[in-house]
Amino acid sequence: MGSTVIKGGQIVTADLTYSADVKIEGGVITEIGPDLSGDTVLDAAGCYVMPGGIDPHTHLEMPFMGTYSSDDFESGTRAALSGGTTMVVDFALPSPGQSLLEAIQMWDNKSTRANCDYSFHMAITWWGEQVFNEMEQVVREKGINTFKHFMAYKGALMVDDDEMFSSFQRCAELGALPLVHAENGDVVAQLQEKLLAEGNNGPEAHAYSRPAEVEGEATNRAIMIADMAGVPLYVVHTSSEQAHEAIRRARQNGIRVYGEPLIQHLTLDDSEYKHKDWDHAARRVMSPPFRNKKHQDSLWHGLAAGSLQVVATDHCAFTTEQKRYGVGDFTKIPNGTGGLEDRMPMLWTYGVVTGRLTMNEFVAVTSTNIAKILHMYPKKGAILVGSDADIVVWDPNKEKTIAASSQQSAIDYNVFEGKEVKGLPRFTLTRGHLSIDDGEVKTKEGHGEYVAREPFHAVNRALSTWKDVTAPRKVQRTGIPASGV
Ligand code: URP
Ligand code: ZN
Ligand code: ZN
Ligand code: ZN
Repeated sequence: MGSTVIKGGQIVTADLTYSADVKIEGGVITEIGPDLSGDTVLDAAGCYVMPGGIDPHTHLEMPFMGTYSSDDFESGTRAALSGGTTMVVDFALPSPGQSLLEAIQMWDNKSTRANCDYSFHMAITWWGEQVFNEMEQVVREKGINTFKHFMAYKGALMVDDDEMFSSFQRCAELGALPLVHAENGDVVAQLQEKLLAEGNNGPEAHAYSRPAEVEGEATNRAIMIADMAGVPLYVVHTSSEQAHEAIRRARQNGIRVYGEPLIQHLTLDDSEYKHKDWDHAARRVMSPPFRNKKHQDSLWHGLAAGSLQVVATDHCAFTTEQKRYGVGDFTKIPNGTGGLEDRMPMLWTYGVVTGRLTMNEFVAVTSTNIAKILHMYPKKGAILVGSDADIVVWDPNKEKTIAASSQQSAIDYNVFEGKEVKGLPRFTLTRGHLSIDDGEVKTKEGHGEYVAREPFHAVNRALSTWKDVTAPRKVQRTGIPASGV
């Protein structure tokens, strides 16, 4: 592979905006500066040269609710690249009782087809000595430093508080970061039963069964449990003011907690579930559900204020046919929506174009912050000499109307159908490979490599030091009275 130079653009990173060319050799950035030359020249005039997006929350070919999500590592990463995202982090998901290492093997097999780099989180779906022991191998040998816990999906993936506290303490010992899906699964299960018994069986009842309070309570609980375990916490798909408030308050009290809104929750609201067409509503069933404007504003404010750090998709795409498993019983509608291809253009259009976010904040929340949180910065999430050449050349004037008919995703609809976006990739490069070339898809199946991540992030170390300093200590007394008679 010869050298490539991205010429004439403005580099936009999480903290700087400046004009320079970028030279790429062997899949990494080797030079940044004026007037560079190379074998291949990509014209970035009028464009912003930014770190490629990182989506830390995807479920590709995931076994869930009696089926598999329909985008696999090939179509999912093709969709990602097409929208300017150059890395995904998926969840290795052992079934209850299954070995964690076996689950990684399964995910290793699926991910060989990835078009861009990827990494894994490990889900803790059950608890026992085997899980406790294997967690160490997962961290030390498999390069996974994040463990996901579902506080919902009772009877399937859900873990209870003592399991979560045990796992969080193990994370603290291993220098790992726990993640939570924060909804009170016991309350959701009872609300679902009650709604069904009352004849409320349509997709709108999915939203009724998962109110914001249920998310707020679980977020507070997870934060408390992480604090007791002395470990940082990452809350996935933060969708409500109640959950954001818990995170905001904890951060102000010195607790190390991160929040991740999804592009869907930022831009789509709960009126979608009232749509007269059953398919339309069911296609938008995900957990937590879409919420009203009050919650959406809260999430936008959190991104601007820094109390929320990352925008993800939770890409978990099911076809209309799969969604119809839940006709007559909303609890059987597979939970999940797509978004990999649309996250960056939607966030740019509704965030940067409207002035809710700066360009630098856009880079921070789509790439750099999560690269830091997951301990893979500056290999990822940066435009620096030595960083992987995962780059999006962003054309702020390029426009399109989102349509399922022209998307890369394998499913037959798009939850953003009809949305007009302004700001799209002119080029997307994954470790130097030009995968999106001005609208032309040139992805290379199997090009993606696994990204191993080290434990003991500076934040873990700082927090465990602080917990040591402030740990309960036996008081050394000058005199101890004789015990009573
Ligand atoms: O509805 C959702 N979010 N489906 C994917 C699994 C999860 O909870 O993240
Ligand atoms: Zn228990
Ligand atoms: Zn979830
Ligand atoms: Zn998810």
